[in-house]
Amino acid sequence: MTLSPPAAMAKGTLSRQLVVRTTALVAAATILLSLVTGLASFQILQAQLDGRLESALRAWGPGSFPGETKPGDPEGSGLIRIEQRGTEFIYTDVLTESQVVALAAIDPDSTPVTMAIEGLGLYRVQVSHRQGRISVAALPFSAVTTPLTRQLMMAALLTLGSIALAGFGARQVVESSLRPLRRLAGTASQVAGLPLASGEGNLPVRVPQQDADPASEVGQVGVAFNQMLDHVEAALEARHRSETKVRQFVADASHELRNPLAAIRGYAELTRREQDLLPANTAHALARIESESDRMSGLVEDLLLLARLDSQPTLALQPTDVTQIVLNAVNDARVAGAGHRWGLDLPDEALTAHADPFRLHQVVANLLANARVHTPAGTTVVTSLRREGEQVVIRVTDDGPGVPAEIRDSVFERFTRAEASRVRHEGGSSTGLGLAIVAAVVAAHGGTVTLESPPGSTTFVVRIPAAFSPTSDGRTVPNS
Ligand SMILES: Nc1ncnc2c1ncn2[C@@H]1O[C@H](COP(=O)(O)OP(=O)(O)OP(=O)(O)O)[C@@H](O)[C@H]1O
Ligand SMILES: [Mg+2]
Repeated sequence: MTLSPPAAMAKGTLSRQLVVRTTALVAAATILLSLVTGLASFQILQAQLDGRLESALRAWGPGSFPGETKPGDPEGSGLIRIEQRGTEFIYTDVLTESQVVALAAIDPDSTPVTMAIEGLGLYRVQVSHRQGRISVAALPFSAVTTPLTRQLMMAALLTLGSIALAGFGARQVVESSLRPLRRLAGTASQVAGLPLASGEGNLPVRVPQQDADPASEVGQVGVAFNQMLDHVEAALEARHRSETKVRQFVADASHELRNPLAAIRGYAELTRREQDLLPANTAHALARIESESDRMSGLVEDLLLLARLDSQPTLALQPTDVTQIVLNAVNDARVAGAGHRWGLDLPDEALTAHADPFRLHQVVANLLANARVHTPAGTTVVTSLRREGEQVVIRVTDDGPGVPAEIRDSVFERFTRAEASRVRHEGGSSTGLGLAIVAAVVAAHGGTVTLESPPGSTTFVVRIPAAFSPTSDGRTVPNS
């Protein structure tokens, strides 16, 4: 699975988290700052207002009232004055009697209070009790609220501005800081997409020098990553070398065994012609030598073929009538396995593919041989051929006992065969190479072979692309 990098600010990304957290932090700090300065301003403004009340009260002498607007009553300040003389009240003419009663009820010894005067709004009020005289001074509280509101609005605008700026700035910084990390992730997923299980082991991908500078944290990861890739490359190359050696050995050994085997078979055949002259058990022994050397020749040919398919599959690709191949293979199987029922399901028109006819025949023949050899007499084997999209699909289905569960996962590997097959074919020809050859030939054609085994039926499905073109290195890949 290769990972595609997430979009820059996608949900769950580190960059998004960093930007969101930084912005939230800046927002919290500016809001807190605005609140604290707002509170301080409130206290200062209120203290100023109280000072004005205090000085107004101090300035008012026992002089005449009303008519005396000064001192302590600058024009437009909205200062209200009430003087109590005995039981009589003298007051600023904006006041009604009930307002005067409410104001005069304030405790003369208290500190200034803020109160709502009905019809006039919020006022800051102070009462003084001096030389038997009770004076009440009140100033509109808007002297505090108006500048404070203005200040809070400014602060709100500033807060919004700084949040936007912090968001934008954090995004720029985070994105540029995380860019090397993204490139590193890109390199890692490039490596993940390489077919490391096959090939010669060279790893052409490295973290670029600019992202492998040990001075930074990301650079250290880059350096470590490159070192790891060096090690992996060395290990893969070593594996490839040893695989090549083993493959070469198998190919050489198989090749070298061919000639002596041919000689043994030749001599055995020669003596068969004169078997009437030989004692019965010598004739039997020679017949066994002949059949076993035949079996060994088959094994050697299989090994040689697998070694060749491994190193460089050379297929004689040509337009091939797959229908004809399937027909021939099933007819051969019918002759070889008269005890089985052989069914055919062919399409109306002939299906052709660019394939190696000899090898493709071997694929179908191996599957049919398995269906014959590994199932009891009476089993029905149906071979079908279809074109599915761009693929030619051959299915060989039998209703026999099925591939034993313990080898189902490894059935296409070399020398995999069930214990029962081993016993059944003791001295016979079960080597466990048939399906390995099927898999290798099909892969060389750019196709796949799979086993489907629902209860009661066993199906081997071969899919090969309907058209092929060979690549320059001799392998074949499907046309895109
Ligand atoms: N149609 C089938 N039904 C049941 N078992 C099967 C079938 N086809 C394959 N097998 C099992 O899979 C094993 C591997 O098959 P494979 O063709 O690779 O080897 P083989 O038939 O044992 O030997 P050979 O090299 O001669 O083909 C067989 O030994 C058998 O146990
Ligand atoms: Mg077989």
